[in-house]
Amino acid sequence: MTEWNTKALIEADKRFIWHPFTDMREWCAPEHEPLILVEGQGATLRDSTGREYIDGNSSIWTNIHGHNNPHINAAIRRQLDRVAHTSFLGFTNPAAIELAQAIVELFPDNPTSRVFFSDDGSTGIEVALRIADQYWRLRHSRRHQFIAFQNGYHGDTAGAASLGAATMFQIGSTRWNFPAMQVPNIKALEALAPAEIAKTAAVVIEPLIQGAAGMRLWPPGTLRAVREWCSRTDTLLIVDEVMTGFGRTGRMFGSEHEAVIPDIMVMAKALSGGYLPLAITLVTEKLFSAFDGSVAEGKALAYGHSYTGNALACAAAKASLEIFENERVLETLQPKIRHLSATLADLEKLTGVKEVRQCGFIAGIEMKESPSSAGSNLAAAACVEARRYGLLTRPIGNVIVLMPPLCITMDQLTKAVEALGVSIADVWRRSVIAAKKNAEEVTA
Ligand SMILES: Cc1ncc(COP(=O)(O)O)c(C=O)c1O
Repeated sequence: MTEWNTKALIEADKRFIWHPFTDMREWCAPEHEPLILVEGQGATLRDSTGREYIDGNSSIWTNIHGHNNPHINAAIRRQLDRVAHTSFLGFTNPAAIELAQAIVELFPDNPTSRVFFSDDGSTGIEVALRIADQYWRLRHSRRHQFIAFQNGYHGDTAGAASLGAATMFQIGSTRWNFPAMQVPNIKALEALAPAEIAKTAAVVIEPLIQGAAGMRLWPPGTLRAVREWCSRTDTLLIVDEVMTGFGRTGRMFGSEHEAVIPDIMVMAKALSGGYLPLAITLVTEKLFSAFDGSVAEGKALAYGHSYTGNALACAAAKASLEIFENERVLETLQPKIRHLSATLADLEKLTGVKEVRQCGFIAGIEMKESPSSAGSNLAAAACVEARRYGLLTRPIGNVIVLMPPLCITMDQLTKAVEALGVSIADVWRRSVIAAKKNAEEVTA
């Protein structure tokens, strides 16, 4: 095992690195000791000091078949021995071609049959918005506005952020790329005035569950109703499967639960098995055919990055799809989903827990407000505590996320939920004691 100089690495990290979505003052504070993750095997990760943890949030919702998966490793190595990357602009490559075909074949009955590659969830959505926008312009339509759902999250590039639903992007008078409005639910969508509908290019939705909103479940039938509204009003439907895709909900894609066929589907995160950055924006042949024409006519899609169609990432994604089939992953997942439900029921009984939400293999455990100091985040404290019991995960607001790789064993799953149970109980107990102490000090 490699010996790591943890202290020197932390010092260098704090000196040279700017972390995403991070309060860098807190990060760089002398008392903050970030974990340095150095190895992974199956559903577990190891830090630079040799401690092992269950990967409770699948390394930010990406990993599905486990770390160091032999089949994906071999596919990447095979590709690496040929070539790591070649341009997708003016050229193509077998790994991307094979993956595109395999993805389209997942939907034999759907008209979604064109694959546009990009790099991550945000760029996948960015592409979806640009395609929808350009599609209507090519048809000389007035439709140019997007509708998203309140609290939804679709990424942080300018276009994706212009959907504006995530509160973190509602910072003053920011002006992103696309005009967009947010609606709270299907009722509000159905109540839109005809003038508003006439301006709408597409509706964007996370199917079944809003992830970054804190694992909030849509009432059953919502996605279906949105599909029907879009069909009725001739509006495009963009389904964001970035979190829900590739088995997380118990089926390959979230939209399958309500038999919904979108006009555009975006997949990323677990697409490459959680190995390499890769996204796909999958569109219908009808949409694609609107772009049939020359660059001079404005019919090329003006989008693409240096690493578009990267062969290593595509090889990893193709290998991941093979695992789904060879190892009957969705079948073996069903008893795990039932086991997760059974163990989560124990968490629901804890005094510190407000609500437990589950969608397939995705769980959100919402904590009650801290009795000791209003606004303090007990979910964050419980996640830090859980490390002591061998579990890594991150909160969203006051919600603890549990979304392990699909390959996790029953035993590891039990341990993960138990680790959360003791951590929540510890954190809640400390908070109650602190509240009592505060009250005594006030009355003294
Ligand atoms: C539903 C959804 N869409 C898009 C994104 C953006 O993906 P990425 O972080 O890969 O850009 C996320 C990220 O969490 C997401 O959950």
